[in-house]
Amino acid sequence: PKDVGIIALEIYFPSQYVDQSELEDFDGVSKGKYTIGLGQSKMGFCSDREDVQSLCLTVLQRLVERNNLSYDMIGRLEVGTETVIDKSKSVKTVLMQLFESSGNCSVEGIDTTNACYGGTAALFNALNWVESSSWDGRYAVAIAGDIAVYATGNARCTGGAGAVAMLVGPNASLMVERGLRGTYMCHVYDFYKPDLSSEYPVVDGKLSIKCYLRALDNCYQQYRAKAQAVMDREKNGSVFSLDCIDAMCFHSPYCKLVQKSVARLALNDFVLEANPDLTGKYTGLDQFRHLKLEDTYFDRDVEKAFLAASSQLYETKTKPGLMLANQVGNMYTPSLYGGLLSYLASKPASEMAGKRVSLFSYGSGSASSFYSLRVSTDLKPGSPLNRLVGSIANLEDRLAARTKLSPPEFDSVMKLREKTHHLAPYSPQGNPDALFPGTWYLTEIDEMYRRKYART
Ligand code: ACO
Repeated sequence: PKDVGIIALEIYFPSQYVDQSELEDFDGVSKGKYTIGLGQSKMGFCSDREDVQSLCLTVLQRLVERNNLSYDMIGRLEVGTETVIDKSKSVKTVLMQLFESSGNCSVEGIDTTNACYGGTAALFNALNWVESSSWDGRYAVAIAGDIAVYATGNARCTGGAGAVAMLVGPNASLMVERGLRGTYMCHVYDFYKPDLSSEYPVVDGKLSIKCYLRALDNCYQQYRAKAQAVMDREKNGSVFSLDCIDAMCFHSPYCKLVQKSVARLALNDFVLEANPDLTGKYTGLDQFRHLKLEDTYFDRDVEKAFLAASSQLYETKTKPGLMLANQVGNMYTPSLYGGLLSYLASKPASEMAGKRVSLFSYGSGSASSFYSLRVSTDLKPGSPLNRLVGSIANLEDRLAARTKLSPPEFDSVMKLREKTHHLAPYSPQGNPDALFPGTWYLTEIDEMYRRKYART
């Protein structure tokens, strides 16, 4: 199959949020810590009416309905999530309820888990299936969904929740660039969920930042070498750099880390380039020419110099992709794909046609990849690209239609989730009328832990 990639995208985020500036006051931290220091404005969260299964039901049904698909057109369904509600039964099997009326039970794929990387693993599985001898000509769908919540303390403000569904197949609007993937995986305890009775992770915040940046360095260096090899084969004599990428999306635990990541990539380019232009784009950076990357994760001088040197890159190539990250927070697995959606919603299709978009996916523990998509150049009316861009044109309106709850209200929802986590039987207390129309929600958990859902 030709031009395999993402054909359509759909996102779901909760209908309620807490304001980060109000949360600063409520938590008693210094003014600006969450909004400026971390770069976050609002954080979406779910009542006890929603769980990861309801989020995924909602986003899958939206994808199918809004693209006029039928469930028998899907031959593979992958779910990436780190929100555990069952140690055996996959979220994917719960989604099979939506396929019942079509009679289609021939759907490969189950769940895949490793912190925020699961969505990327699900997408790679879907892409690989379409490119493989197992493919039967139908679409694949990859879903990333999570409820990201932290215990009270300094990590709580970096939560979020949501789900993204991606329709995968040939003749895509976002084509995956074959052979250009950098991957870095290693064993580290930076963020993990060993306590199965709790929704909360155990986090070593500072270590997680170092691991994220180290993974970024390693993935980008591999990607860069592969992209350079392609350029060398084409004998165009150019040197690969960030100038060869038009938009850069990142997994976003919080927006400030993404800004620092762009600076980090600029640092990589500078250190790796054989003949950097010290009087042009690298003016004033000579002193950093020979440093070792591993020594610089928390080096303030390096950070400051490369934040300044990459500010234009950040403003033009990355910031447009941070809208959802800033407005909803870290959704975990969907975070990176919320970034892609934000970028796509930021410009008319004609300005994005043919552009290369890089994506960096990081999941603690850790697993990470850096890869790229090429936006289709088919701008004919009704083309997949036009349909995709049209389908997300109302993203800002949807964000604006949410309801703000106060920090004490948010806190009491968190306490209720804590208290009732894994209770059976259980009748959720949250008001379903507060959800957006078309949202699946939990109606009941029976004495055998079986969950039942309805749709608003
Ligand atoms: N005005 C402006 N900036 C401020 C203010 C203020 N009043 N107060 C603090 N800041 C700045 C700090 O200087 C710091 O900036 P820096 O990052 O440039 O040093 C930033 O705000 C954050 O402040 P810290 O004191 O470093 O924050 P703290 O250590 O309390 O918590 C952390 C931050 C570690 C990110 C925490 O929220 C956390 O553990 N989150 C979860 C883990 C995480 O997201 N890790 C990232 C990768 S792994 C993953 O995706 C889950």
